[in-house]
Amino acid sequence: MTIADLRALEILDSRGRPTVQVTATLSSGVRASAQVPSGASTGRHEAVELRDGDAERFGGKGVQKAVAHVSGEILEALHGRAAEDQAGLDAAMIALDGTPDKSRLGANAMLGVSCAVARAASRGQGVPLWRYLAGTREPVFPVPMVNMLSGGLHAGGNIEFQDFLAIPHGFPSYARALESMVRLHGVTRDIIAARGFVLTGVADEGGWGPALHSNEEALALLTEAIEKAGYEPGGQISIAIDVASTHFHRDGIYRLATESRSLDSAGMIEQLAGWCDRYPVASIEDGLHEDDWEGWPLLQARLGERVQLVGDDFFTTNPERVRRGIRGKAANAVLVKMNQIGTLTETFAVIDMARQAGWKAVVSARSGETEDSFLADLAVASGAGQIKIGSITRSERLAKYNRLLEIEADSGLAYPTGNTRRVTRAG
Ligand code: PGA
Ligand code: ZN
Repeated sequence: MTIADLRALEILDSRGRPTVQVTATLSSGVRASAQVPSGASTGRHEAVELRDGDAERFGGKGVQKAVAHVSGEILEALHGRAAEDQAGLDAAMIALDGTPDKSRLGANAMLGVSCAVARAASRGQGVPLWRYLAGTREPVFPVPMVNMLSGGLHAGGNIEFQDFLAIPHGFPSYARALESMVRLHGVTRDIIAARGFVLTGVADEGGWGPALHSNEEALALLTEAIEKAGYEPGGQISIAIDVASTHFHRDGIYRLATESRSLDSAGMIEQLAGWCDRYPVASIEDGLHEDDWEGWPLLQARLGERVQLVGDDFFTTNPERVRRGIRGKAANAVLVKMNQIGTLTETFAVIDMARQAGWKAVVSARSGETEDSFLADLAVASGAGQIKIGSITRSERLAKYNRLLEIEADSGLAYPTGNTRRVTRAG
């Protein structure tokens, strides 16, 4: 089957900001669409999301230029080419764009095409998307990291650390694990309400965003909630933190305004290590700044044997940065966001590179999402083993959680238990 047509549409994401939807039509008449997500706490080294910059429309955030590139230059380059040749199609788009950061055509335009064509090809072959994407890889059902408490840029700057998440690794099935997350989310709410915090809704990723007095309070609260909900902290449910530290770092100092404290890189490492001693923390993301190449190996040396240390803004799903991180023993896991790099082929390259180095990988959504469930299939297909989608509220999140329920029911793949709590092989 070959590519017959590519169309794009400016749609809205879960924050009501414009994003790109691409529809691919193949020579057989089969057609499929994909929608592109968008971050808020973005890394400096991400591929460029092309925005119109026309202040008259959506405050400059329109994506009509990216939309036009899809049915213009990109269609011209890909028309008549085999839809199954994902690597060839992605390489052609990268060459056509010609910039190191995809800023000419836009990573949003390119990713939309990459995913829509893959979905159309899978449909053409009559196989589930996850099976098509897996190719020769062994699919693995992922354990989710579920957002319970939000801070930072996702919750109006209440506390500095961005996500406090639960990892339900001690359950016999994904369906049971998900049920525990719904229960935990409710118990967390009850504790927050009982302490007199004002609850006015959920944060960008569906977690609670109360104005706590300190970052550690969130950790203590979540640990208490796990116990109150009747689960064993560390045994059935562990905690993951996304510090997203780049966003409160200035001039070499991490500024914890809510706590009236400032920490340098060494201070941050000690702070995080202390938390790992006192709470069931199994995973820490972006514990240090996105360009702190000296600090990260120290963090890895201090905690890497017992805690998963994930680079998000640090690696930006960029094969070059991940390679440098592996060489420098700077972490032991990578967060994988398709739109940070802009094509499916490069996304898979990063996950495969992590696996070969004995690193972990976490496939992740963005804080600005859509109702597209592509990410669920990607997580299964890639064998990454972990997925981070946000909380169990808001339908842009549920689209992925519910798709995973479908895949579990249809695929016969086992839910992996107990393997995400400890990182056995440090990078
Ligand atoms: P973002 O946040 O999508 O706003 O970048 C998600 C994350 O930091 O993991
Ligand atoms: Zn992050």
